[in-house]
Amino acid sequence: MPSSLDQALRAALLSRQALLAELHQQGTDCYRLFHGSQEGAAGLTVDRYGPQLLVQSFHETLEREALLGLADLINKTLDQQLLLVYNDRSQGNSRVDRRDPIYQAEPAALEDLVGHEWGLKYRVRGRHAGQDPLLFLDLRNARGWVRQNSADKSVLNLFAYTCGVGLCAAAGGAREVWNLDFAEGNLAVGRENAALNPELAPMRFLQSDYFPAIRQLAGLPIARRHGQRLPSYPRLEQRHFDLVFLDPPAWAKSAFGTVDLQRDYQSLLKPALLATAEGGTLVCNNNLAKVDLEGWREQVLRCASKLGRPVRDWQVLTPAGDFPSLDARPPLKTLVLNF
Ligand SMILES: C[S@@+](CC[C@H](N)C(=O)[O-])C[C@H]1O[C@@H](n2cnc3c(N)ncnc32)[C@H](O)[C@@H]1O
Repeated sequence: MPSSLDQALRAALLSRQALLAELHQQGTDCYRLFHGSQEGAAGLTVDRYGPQLLVQSFHETLEREALLGLADLINKTLDQQLLLVYNDRSQGNSRVDRRDPIYQAEPAALEDLVGHEWGLKYRVRGRHAGQDPLLFLDLRNARGWVRQNSADKSVLNLFAYTCGVGLCAAAGGAREVWNLDFAEGNLAVGRENAALNPELAPMRFLQSDYFPAIRQLAGLPIARRHGQRLPSYPRLEQRHFDLVFLDPPAWAKSAFGTVDLQRDYQSLLKPALLATAEGGTLVCNNNLAKVDLEGWREQVLRCASKLGRPVRDWQVLTPAGDFPSLDARPPLKTLVLNF
C-alpha cells in the first residue's frame, strides 16, 4: 500500500480506538473506519458492517495491492478476519463496477450477512440492486436519538429506505410505526430487518410516493402538474404523528413532485410539519454538503412560524466521531424540532 495511505489509515484507526471500544460495548459492529475526504485520501471510504469490510472508491480505482494491504492492516488492528468486498464506484454516476477487475469477493462475503447497531440486527449485503449500502452509518446518532425518544409515540418514518429509523422507534417502545418509501425493494429490506428482530412490535410498511402520502396526512390537496393525469396512489386519512422523521435524498423527481434539498426544502417540510402533532416532534435532515447548517436552520424555523407552527425549542444532532469533519461542518445535518 502507498505509504501515504498506510499512514493515513493508521492515524484513522488510532483516532477511533476509544470510539470503537464504546461502540462494541453498545452492541454496534457497523461503523466507518476510514473517512477519506477528511482523513487524507479523498474519494475512499472503508466501513465495517458486522462480519464484512466494505471498501468503496469514488474518484479512482484502488490498486489491488493497496486494497489487500488495507484489509490486512484493519484485520490485524481489530483482531478479526472480516470478509472483504470492494465496490469501485469511480465510474459514471457512482455506480458499482460489477465486473470486479481488481478484486473478486469470496462468495461468503456476498452472502446475506447480519450487522448490529445499538443491539439491533440489520441486513448486510455487499451487492444488491441499488448502489449504496443498506444502512447509512452517519445516521447512527440520529437513530439512537429516535430510540431514546419514541416510547408510547406514534412515529412516521419518511423516505424510510431500509427502515433503520423505524426499527429504532419500535425498539424504543413506539406505540405505532409507519415506514414510507416509494421503492418496494427498499421496504422489502425493511421487512427483513423487522424479521431479524422478532421481539419488536410490528411496523407498517407503506409503499407510496412521498408527496401524495404526506399531503393526504397533512390534509392538503394533491395538485395535478401541468394538467396531467396522476398515477394512482394509496388513499390515506388526514392524521397527526407524535414523532415525524424526514430524511429525503438530495434530489429525486417523480410524477408528483421534485425532491430538491438545495432549492426547495420547504415543499418537503410544510406537509411534514402539518402532519406533526401539537406538542410533537419533527426530526428533519439535510445531507447536502453545500447547504450550511445555520442558513438551513433559519429557513426551517421561519417556515414553521409562517405555517403557524412555531418551534418551541430545537436541537442539532451530529454524526459520531467515525465521520470526522475538519471544518466541523459535516454534510449530514439533523435538526430536532419540538412544538
Ligand atoms: C437517502 S435514502 C433515505 C435514507 C433513510 N432515511 C435511512 O434512514 O436510511 C432516500 C430514500 O428516498 C426514497 N425516495 C426518493 N424519492 C421518493 C419519493 N418521491 N417518494 C418516496 N420515497 C422516495 C428512495 O427510495 C430511498 O429509499
